[in-house]
Amino acid sequence: HGSSKINQNGHLEIGGVDTLELANKYGTPLYVYDVELIRNRARGFKSAFDKANVKAQVAYASKAFSSVAIIQVAHEEGLSLDVVSGGELYTALAAGFPASRIHFHGNNKSQEELRMALEHNIGCIVVDNFYEIELLNSICRELEAKAKILLRVTPGVEAHTHDYITTGQEDSKFGFDLHNGQVEKAIDQVLELNSFELLGFHCHIGSQIFETTGFVLAADKIFEKLKEWKSQFSFVPEVINLGGGFGIRYTEEDEPLEPHVYVEKIIETVKNKITDLNMNMPEIWIEPGRSLVGDAGTTLYTVGSQKEIPDIRKYLAIDGGMSDNIRPSLYQAKYEAALANKMNVKHENKVSIAGKCCESGDMLIWDVPLPEAQPGDLLAVFCTGAYGYSMSNNYNRIPRPAVVFVENGEAGLVIKRETLEDIVRLDLPYKSKVMNS
Ligand code: LLP
Repeated sequence: HGSSKINQNGHLEIGGVDTLELANKYGTPLYVYDVELIRNRARGFKSAFDKANVKAQVAYASKAFSSVAIIQVAHEEGLSLDVVSGGELYTALAAGFPASRIHFHGNNKSQEELRMALEHNIGCIVVDNFYEIELLNSICRELEAKAKILLRVTPGVEAHTHDYITTGQEDSKFGFDLHNGQVEKAIDQVLELNSFELLGFHCHIGSQIFETTGFVLAADKIFEKLKEWKSQFSFVPEVINLGGGFGIRYTEEDEPLEPHVYVEKIIETVKNKITDLNMNMPEIWIEPGRSLVGDAGTTLYTVGSQKEIPDIRKYLAIDGGMSDNIRPSLYQAKYEAALANKMNVKHENKVSIAGKCCESGDMLIWDVPLPEAQPGDLLAVFCTGAYGYSMSNNYNRIPRPAVVFVENGEAGLVIKRETLEDIVRLDLPYKSKVMNS
């Protein structure tokens, strides 16, 4: 899908570039991003709002994959940006992303992080809890700044793939509960303090969601409350942010909707609600992460050792693993793969793809059909663009892979491969007083 295809040499090609050339030039493991696919997704979300003439911000949730290059692409596509730490904020600012379109999330932002956000006058801080109201208020006073904020509410809707749960309350570390008076108390506090400009409310119901039901239920619950708050506080929000969570297709079991389908349903729901409440259309904000970058990313690995347990299983080991993709071991996440240099060779048997980390649980895929593999073959694992690099780590002191962007037949390195020197870059020798005495 996207701009991937099989070229005349029988090789996997992404964005008009042969993956074998990429592997030769940049080494493996290598994350390859199809930039055209990212742009198309971004346009899918944005144009659905534009067509309906609804004021909106589509904020890329950069936790899915944050780097200077991807943030520049987000900027080019007119997206806003969701950051969740000083590190993600710093990356956004380093990429030259306009501060006015950055939204800062998190359930325990530090003083330094909040100060950094205020000093750069970012577009919005999503306030999560009472401690943060206090902390942000005191920093605003110190800096003589006013913070534009959303209050994060927990609507008691939890959606995951095809399942969604609605409860009177939700057991979550995030946000103010919608059903026990917490939000009212928070609204009361922030309207009293002149440190804040309350823009509206935020909720996020989950991730990898394939249906619109959860979004509709969450919007329903929030708008029911808006009716009460209109009379209680004479407050009508300018912004309703319904979070991210739009699903993608990792394997054939997954059946995601097109971006515009989610957006159209959200718009329809909100439009019905405002007519009921006799209020103006708020701006609608959403925060897709995975659906913008997930299936645009492919990881290329080199095949190494194999182990066969007769009648049971064949293990095929590659030069990466849970250090560059922790999702299979952390969430039992499923992926599809192919031999990028043998795309036209018929599938022989099922093999299981093992990582190289010293841990039995370091398995990327169980029982995937592949052609007979040799050491040196190139394995492509698909849909690794979200929460892959961003959750990568140096377990076993394995250097992080490089990242390349491909588009229109050209490739560009956007994150360099870590070196062995990088591995010891922050290490210091220990001068033991005990040993020297
Ligand atoms: N907004 C908020 C407030 C969020 O917490 C998240 C994700 C998003 C937006 C973006 O969600 P997305 O569109 O990417 O589903 N590491 C996990 C996913 C964690 C998601 C955390 N929050 C994984 O690899 O599946």
